[in-house]
Amino acid sequence: MKRDGTETRVALITGASSGFGAVTAAKFAARGFRVFGTSRSGGGGSPGLEMLALDVDRDDSVRQCIAELLRRAGRLDALVNNAGRAMVGACEETSAEEARSLFETNVFGAMRVVSAVLPTMRTQRSGSIVNVGSLSGFVGVPFHGVYAASKHALAGYTEALRLEVEPFGIQVALIEPAAHRTGIQMVRPGHLLPLYDSHRRRVEAIIRAQIESGESPERVADAIVRASTRLHPPFRHRVGRKATFAAWARRLLPPSVFESVVRREFRLQERTQS
Ligand SMILES: NC(=O)c1ccc[n+]([C@@H]2O[C@H](COP(=O)([O-])OP(=O)(O)OC[C@H]3O[C@@H](n4cnc5c(N)ncnc54)[C@H](OP(=O)(O)O)[C@@H]3O)[C@@H](O)[C@H]2O)c1
Repeated sequence: MKRDGTETRVALITGASSGFGAVTAAKFAARGFRVFGTSRSGGGGSPGLEMLALDVDRDDSVRQCIAELLRRAGRLDALVNNAGRAMVGACEETSAEEARSLFETNVFGAMRVVSAVLPTMRTQRSGSIVNVGSLSGFVGVPFHGVYAASKHALAGYTEALRLEVEPFGIQVALIEPAAHRTGIQMVRPGHLLPLYDSHRRRVEAIIRAQIESGESPERVADAIVRASTRLHPPFRHRVGRKATFAAWARRLLPPSVFESVVRREFRLQERTQS
């Protein structure tokens, strides 16, 4: 409780041990929120942050994390579903099990956390939920196919959720960043097919270079905080030059021209060596 009698607002940022999540948590704290961050181990995160253990892949972990947050803070005003992983590999190289594992974190993980916090937000008749999608949530980036599928799924889910919970005073928004400078890991499928080697390596090198030379995660964190705290935020928030350009190009260019822009971006017009 603050001196003026109002409640201190409470934020929960999943995946706050590094990258966007860590920077976002610090920005919420600077805005006067009591901030809970999560990591699978329960460690890490910026100073002043209350870290909780959370593996979004597991029902019991999500249940325990939200119960502990509510025990300590008694309310939740802002949820940022940021925890996520990436994968780089051809669609044909990725097994159903590997795809399912990525969806478990990027899609079902976010859904689990949303379902766990909604009863509290509905009772409060207030709250905001911001899901962290990606440029790959509206463009099928080659050799990022399963990651793109997971972020497209998250986008569709988030759009529907927004309309369902609006009557309860809960606001929902989606952040769609282009590549930004974080340590995000990109696992490869276990069984690689040599016929894709040349294109996969080229695309992976381009994506890694885009991340390493990408814009600062501060911009993404600012967009998340803005979307979480603004009254009636728009649904989609594209962050980064490439995301803004891709959204514009997708809307205005004929599909075949847009496709050739993507092909050129990832140098797929060059012949494979195998
Ligand atoms: N970096 C980019 O260019 C970029 C662009 C577009 C979208 N994104 C999205 O932004 C989000 C954050 O990524 P980042 O770049 O900041 O990467 P990051 O530094 O690797 O952060 C990922 C966070 O997710 C957590 N995490 C991973 N698996 C988890 C699980 N099963 N349960 C709970 N937490 C888990 C990690 O925590 P622990 O490992 O400590 O548990 C870590 O804190 C992701 O959703 C990503 O898809 C990133």
